[in-house]
Amino acid sequence: MIKKKLLRNGKKIDKFLINFLKKQKSSLLLKPMKYGVISGGKKIRSTIILDVGKLLKIKEKKLLNICAAVECIHSYSLIHDDLPCMDDDKIRRGKPTTHIKFGEASAVLAGSSLLTLAFEIIADKKYNINSQSKNEIIRSLAKCSGHTGIAGGQELDLKFENKKKSINQIIDMQKKKTGRLFNFCLYAVSVIANKKTKEKKFLSNLGEEIGLLFQLTDDFLDIKGSRKKTGKPVKKDNKKGKSTLLKLMGEKKAYMFATNLKRKILLKLEKHGKNAKELIDTIKFILERKY
Ligand code: IPE
Ligand code: IPE
Ligand code: MG
Ligand code: MG
Ligand code: MG
Repeated sequence: MIKKKLLRNGKKIDKFLINFLKKQKSSLLLKPMKYGVISGGKKIRSTIILDVGKLLKIKEKKLLNICAAVECIHSYSLIHDDLPCMDDDKIRRGKPTTHIKFGEASAVLAGSSLLTLAFEIIADKKYNINSQSKNEIIRSLAKCSGHTGIAGGQELDLKFENKKKSINQIIDMQKKKTGRLFNFCLYAVSVIANKKTKEKKFLSNLGEEIGLLFQLTDDFLDIKGSRKKTGKPVKKDNKKGKSTLLKLMGEKKAYMFATNLKRKILLKLEKHGKNAKELIDTIKFILERKY
């Protein structure tokens, strides 16, 4: 069920991105950009956006720009994450990483172009939401992507290699590098739904916790997962000296931590009743997933 949902949403967002890029002038970077963002990846962030849309009763049409923008930012972060100066990985989504296929310079530039494309997609004149909401969404996406979000978290991830860090330092790093974009996913939908500040805060915090759960599972998959299913190399985090909760607490305790986190997240959604069903299914998948 969930796999079908992910595939269906993935196709929708790919189609949106292909159409959006079709309308732009051509460039040399278009090929590595498309290689990095289209036809690959689970599109779990888009799925969460659409699930939250169901929770808050927002029409899908109003959410596609947000989904596409988030996938651009996410793919940009992966292209850069795989570079030799960062995690130095050669396989992503079952195929050679963008820098292996197109060279490092093109990968850096295609990544940066996906980052800016995300903002073009939201600022697009044809994206029909009120301009105040648009502004709020753009500001939040910038914050979640930059030095207080993904980029800042990635810097910590690299600086923490081969260092002894505390649980709280690792959680802070993971919330930034992965949690903030999930935070944005929930926040953006709450802005479109005209929610009050308190509700927006509640949803963005929830998003960040979902992101943390997602990263914890990613760390488990590095140890327990298969290269075939994940489409990326496994058993690399230890070799690189990555600071993870798994390494700090051991497998059993880290798994317990993740299970408790999942429970806490689901508890928060209980009051939303059946409108939260899709989101709950996706959250359950996040911890159980094999890819
Ligand atoms: C991998 O993200 C990187 C992390 C933030 C953990 P995904 O597992 O969502 O990657 P794709 O998009 O499915 O390839
Ligand atoms: C990546 O974390 C987080 C990003 C924000 C890109 P990882 O480095 O663990 O992601 P994978 O395992 O390479 O997908
Ligand atoms: Mg990394
Ligand atoms: Mg990596
Ligand atoms: Mg990983």
